[in-house]
Amino acid sequence: MSEQKIKKPAAVISVAIQKGGSAKTTLAVNLAAELGSQGYNVLVIDVDPQANASAHISVAHPSTLSKNASTLFRGNLEEIMASIQVETNPGFENVHLIPGSLELDQSVEESLRNHSPRPYEEMRRRIGLLREAYDVIIIDTPPSLRLLTGNALAASTHYIVPIETSSQYPLYGVADLVAYIERIKESINPDLVNIGVLISRHDERRRACKAILETVQEKIGNILPVIIHAGAKVGDASIARVPIRKMEKDGRVAKDFADLATFLINTLGLEKSDESGNA
Ligand SMILES: Nc1ncnc2c1ncn2[C@@H]1O[C@H](COP(=O)(O)OP(=O)(O)O)[C@@H](O)[C@H]1O
Ligand SMILES: [Mg+2]
Repeated sequence: MSEQKIKKPAAVISVAIQKGGSAKTTLAVNLAAELGSQGYNVLVIDVDPQANASAHISVAHPSTLSKNASTLFRGNLEEIMASIQVETNPGFENVHLIPGSLELDQSVEESLRNHSPRPYEEMRRRIGLLREAYDVIIIDTPPSLRLLTGNALAASTHYIVPIETSSQYPLYGVADLVAYIERIKESINPDLVNIGVLISRHDERRRACKAILETVQEKIGNILPVIIHAGAKVGDASIARVPIRKMEKDGRVAKDFADLATFLINTLGLEKSDESGNA
């Protein structure tokens, strides 16, 4: 172990699937908290205009914050730095946030579409310095395949697709998602890596869940070895604005997220920039 090693730029992980209610935000928030608790410097970027991840993580309500993720699409460095929230709720140690806002929907999409010379590459152009400052960046995306999600994928090193097995149409839109990501890879980001499908909100006692898992296995494959189980307290944790690990310390879902973090640390080779306080 050398004393001073050069920091690897942060892995940038987009959580993406255009179906709402797929457990994207739950994944982004709880994975960030878990990695933060292990001493990784984590930045969550919320590009969903609904700002659910921001409401969960931020001390101040996202609607009261003057700067938000729109800076990543059209801001200068100073504005981007000013949009980072370093004060986050208890349980989100080492987690910073660039919040989401309705401004993303109303104004950013439109200005990207109408005025940007490279509408899919604005965020990619601006994310470099953040990658130097953090160990992991997690991007929560909106339930659509438009410019906000496209920019997130173009700016990412990796993406992960949560699919929840208590849903009626689990494969809804997956073919479109795959084709969309292929286009982003071909035109902008050839190195984008698919981490895989994260089975979420899974209840193996329910026959419907098991059947859906089998369908996903058969039709999509590439399922991660870690599954996030359904937990009664997951919704309560988001209302209480704490990570599930804080609400149910020894609970199953908390353990699932810890296992997921371990899996990602190992497969992506995540590194901490500051080893001083941690084993
Ligand atoms: N493991 C889980 N157990 C129970 N409920 C969950 C779980 N994961 C997500 N949910 C619930 O499912 C709903 C949708 O999750 P969310 O993360 O907001 O999805 P998305 O961001 O894809 O729209 C939320 O009410 C959330 O609390
Ligand atoms: Mg969401």
